[in-house]
Amino acid sequence: MTLPDPGANDDLSNLAWQVESGANEAVLDKPVNRFLLKEKESAEPRQALPEKQKKPVQPIAQSLTQTPPEAEISAEKLAKAAKTLGELKAAIEGFDGCSLKKTAMNTVFSRGEVASGLMLIGEAPGAEEDRQGKPFVGASGHLLDTMMAAIGREKDKDYYISNILPWRPPGNRKPTPVEQTLCLPFIKRHIELVSPKVIILLGGTALSALLDISEGITRVRGKWLSYRVGKITIPALAMFHPAYLLRQPQLKRQAWHDLLEIKTKLDG
Ligand code: URA
Repeated sequence: MTLPDPGANDDLSNLAWQVESGANEAVLDKPVNRFLLKEKESAEPRQALPEKQKKPVQPIAQSLTQTPPEAEISAEKLAKAAKTLGELKAAIEGFDGCSLKKTAMNTVFSRGEVASGLMLIGEAPGAEEDRQGKPFVGASGHLLDTMMAAIGREKDKDYYISNILPWRPPGNRKPTPVEQTLCLPFIKRHIELVSPKVIILLGGTALSALLDISEGITRVRGKWLSYRVGKITIPALAMFHPAYLLRQPQLKRQAWHDLLEIKTKLDG
């Protein structure tokens, strides 16, 4: 009888754990000194391209080298010009001003039912969301769906989900303030077009990006706040991010309190 090789199992579960944690980028065995490469490149004389082979100049909004202020203005313009959710999705997919798009597999726009009146907003896609092109479809999405089911809200029917950022930050790192600012016009327009009755902000990034308050999630979770768009004010409640609840299960008690608060608001 051959016994299973415990070492092999360990390797497999280690690998699965790394993929689940977002460490799925290939890293070279030896570090590459990119400063040296750059020096080498610039030391070599460049030959001018014949007129016909020259690349067409890209408009600023599509260039990857554009500076953030230009990209910010272009995101603002593109978002404002979108009159429907379909147009907004296309505008985001065509926007090259945020470098996160270069490393992401997909643009993650939304999932769920627009007409449900309930919009949930997270931070940014993780590895599974990037693969599938849909928000909250990994482990934290599973917990989120279970939490919503506990207050009688059915997946893909009774709520609608999106994120502050439509692209996955490499290795699931926290999006930088510049990346958040760049993508903010899109989620703001997204909220405006959906015009939900209630917003749930999942985690500190969604809270600080959309509401102008200095207090953190631990202090303001579970309290009704206001999100203003144009002339309308939408009640918004912040709660702990499901990924955080997976790491800190003792906080689920507070999350349950927040869910009941949301249920009361929606039922009332
Ligand atoms: N975390 C988020 O904030 N959003 C997702 O879509 C997935 C995980």
